[in-house]
Amino acid sequence: MSFGLSRGRELEPGFTLPPALAPLPDDLLSNRKAAHVDVRAWYDDPTRPFELEIGSGKGTFLVQEAARRRETNFLGIEYAMEFYRYAADRIRRAELRNVRMLGLDAAEFVHWRVPDGVCDVVHLYFADPWPKTKHHRRRMIQDRFLADCTRIIRPGGELRVVTDHDDYWAWMERHFDRWTGAGRPFAREEFKPVMPPRGADEAEGPTVPGGQGDGAEVAAGEPSAAALKAGELVGTNFERKYRAEGRGFHATTLRLVAPDAPKPA
Ligand SMILES: C[S@@+](CC[C@H](N)C(=O)[O-])C[C@H]1O[C@@H](n2cnc3c(N)ncnc32)[C@H](O)[C@@H]1O
Repeated sequence: MSFGLSRGRELEPGFTLPPALAPLPDDLLSNRKAAHVDVRAWYDDPTRPFELEIGSGKGTFLVQEAARRRETNFLGIEYAMEFYRYAADRIRRAELRNVRMLGLDAAEFVHWRVPDGVCDVVHLYFADPWPKTKHHRRRMIQDRFLADCTRIIRPGGELRVVTDHDDYWAWMERHFDRWTGAGRPFAREEFKPVMPPRGADEAEGPTVPGGQGDGAEVAAGEPSAAALKAGELVGTNFERKYRAEGRGFHATTLRLVAPDAPKPA
């Protein structure tokens, strides 16, 4: 399927794209750390905080956040190749050296490749809901993924989740209940919006074309006046599209408070 997103020049490893991954080792199951990749080494300054966005779509969150917080390194993972190329090209054009993009399955990359304790934050916004029961196993929120998060997030770090989908939210809540609370690895916290709502006067900021709707181009690091007024949670394309449709959102933060606490059976 084509989304008509092709633009820009051919992407090259080095800037935006990390180096090619080495093949998985033959002794993977007995030597899991041999498959790990030092994702922090992909950036100019590997000591900076590291945040992972899963399912970056057109890359709007990355372009906005990486420009606003240049002292943080971001990795976006998007497995739909056309969106991945589009997002990576946007990041290249915005000259954001603190972002890298991967075009592969994030669940598998997190499970096999990401080293322990490297992520300050994992962002999961408007993940595909896979509504049919036979497809639920494709949902990103699974016990295996949450177990992986207890390993890759540093103690005190966060998993941040937003969805518009009521049934997927109910599924998430059932999973989160198993992983949070007394004696569990995570604590549930209120979701703090990326850009807290500002007063109407302040929101009369720079006019940025296309602040609403799917396909919006927001200038790097500059949320539109409309976005600020709307009190967006994360400012992704899907949030803007669904907000324009009047949909409500569910959002939560899971903070890793006890990485070694017993995991649910
Ligand atoms: C509904 S879109 C949301 C995009 C973006 N987060 C937003 O809010 O605008 C979900 C995105 O996640 C991507 N995705 C779904 N499962 C994925 C996986 N296992 N690995 C990488 N990307 C995935 C899809 O290709 C799609 O672009």
